[in-house]
Amino acid sequence: MKLLSIETSCDETAVSVLNAEGAADSSRFRILGNALLSQIDIHREYGGVFPALAKREHAKNLVPLLHEALTQAALLTTSEAALSEADREKLSELLVREPELLAALTSFFEASGSPAIDAICVTHGPGLAPALWVGVNFARALSLIWNIPVIGVNHMEGHLLSALVQKEEEEFVLSEVQKPVLALLISGGHTEIVCMKDWLSYELVGHTRDDAVGEAYDKVARMLELPYPGGPEVSRLAEEAREQGIASPVVLPRPMINDTHEDFSFSGLKTAVLYFLKAHLELSESEQRGLAKEFEDAVADVLYTKTSRALLKTGALTLVLGGGVSANTNIQRVFTEKIAQDHPEVELRIPAPMFTTDNAIMIGIAGYYRALENLYSDADTLAADGNLSLV
Ligand code: KG4
Ligand code: ZN
Repeated sequence: MKLLSIETSCDETAVSVLNAEGAADSSRFRILGNALLSQIDIHREYGGVFPALAKREHAKNLVPLLHEALTQAALLTTSEAALSEADREKLSELLVREPELLAALTSFFEASGSPAIDAICVTHGPGLAPALWVGVNFARALSLIWNIPVIGVNHMEGHLLSALVQKEEEEFVLSEVQKPVLALLISGGHTEIVCMKDWLSYELVGHTRDDAVGEAYDKVARMLELPYPGGPEVSRLAEEAREQGIASPVVLPRPMINDTHEDFSFSGLKTAVLYFLKAHLELSESEQRGLAKEFEDAVADVLYTKTSRALLKTGALTLVLGGGVSANTNIQRVFTEKIAQDHPEVELRIPAPMFTTDNAIMIGIAGYYRALENLYSDADTLAADGNLSLV
C-alpha cells in the first residue's frame, strides 16, 4: 500500500510517501518521496525550540513539502475542479486558526486532484501540542477532502519501529526480529525503556523521573555556551577529549545506577555539571572537553547498566536504540561493545542516521503496522496529545 506521512511534533516539518508491503514479521518499504525542512536555524537564536514559532513554520511549510513529496513520488495529479461549498466549510472549520495554511491548502486542492494514496499517517503525539495540532489538522483536512483514511501515529513508536529497519539495496526491510524486543528510547523529551512483546504491544520497563537525556545534553551544552541543539556539540567536545587522551577534571555522579529499578534521573547529573562550572569559572578548553567526556561517560554508564539489567529481566532477544540521542557516537560505541560482550544472545539494532533525527518516514512505517491491524483513526475526531504515551 501507499502511505503519505506527516511529522510536525517538534522542530522538523516532514512529509513522505512510502510504498509498504508484507506482513508485520517481514515488511518492506520503498521511499517514493521525502521532503523535510528543519527549523534548527530559526530556533537556535532562542537556545531551544519556541513552540509558537515552530507551529507557524509548520503551517507555512506543510503545503510546499506535500507538493514536493507527491511530485517526487509522481503522484501529483492536476485538477481544475473547484472545491464544493461543503468542502470549503469543512476546511475553514478545521483550519480556523491557520488562515495562511487554509489559503495555501485551498489553492492546492483546486490545482491537484486526489492522489493514489491508501492512507495518511500523522504524528499525533507526544511533542509540542501547538506544533502537533497543525500536522493533525492538516492530515484531517487531506483525509476529509480526498476521502482517504487517516492513521494517528505515536512519534516514539515511529522511532522504535524505524530503528529496527535495515537497508537492502533500494528498500528498507523490517524482518527477522526476535521478540521480545527491548527498546531504549532516548530523545529531547523522552527517556524510557520499553518492552515490545509483540507488534504494537508495549510494556514500560523504566523511564526518567525528571529530565530526558537529550534535555540534559542540551542544558549542559547551554552551560558550556554551545549552540542549540547541544547534543552533537557536547559529543564533538567529548570525542576530541577521547582522541587527545584528555582526562576529566571531575568525577560526575551516575544517578540511580545501583538502584534495582530501571528508572532514570538526569537532573542531578546536570546540576553536578552546573556546580562544577560555578566553582571553576575559568575552565580551559581542554578542561571543557574533559568535562564533556565525563558527562557522556556518566550518561552512557547509566543507560547501559539499566538497559543491561532490563535485558535480563525481560529475556528480550533484540535490543533497539531509538530517538535523537541514539545518534550519539559514544552511546552507539558503548552499546555495541558491551552488548556483544555481556549479552551475546541479544541482537542490537541501531537506527540508520536518517532515522535518528525526526522524520516522516518513521511515521509511515509505524502507520503501516497500524494499518495492518486495521487501527485507523476517525478523521472527524483525531486529536493531538502532547503527552501521548506508548503504554
Ligand atoms: O528525537 P529528537 O530529534 O526530537 C525529539 O523527539 O525530542 O531528539 C532531539 C534530541 C536533542 O536533545 C538533541 O540534542 C539530541 O537529540 N541529539 C543528540 C545527538 N544528536 C541529537 N544528543 C547526543 N548526541 C548526539 N549526537
Ligand atoms: Zn523524536
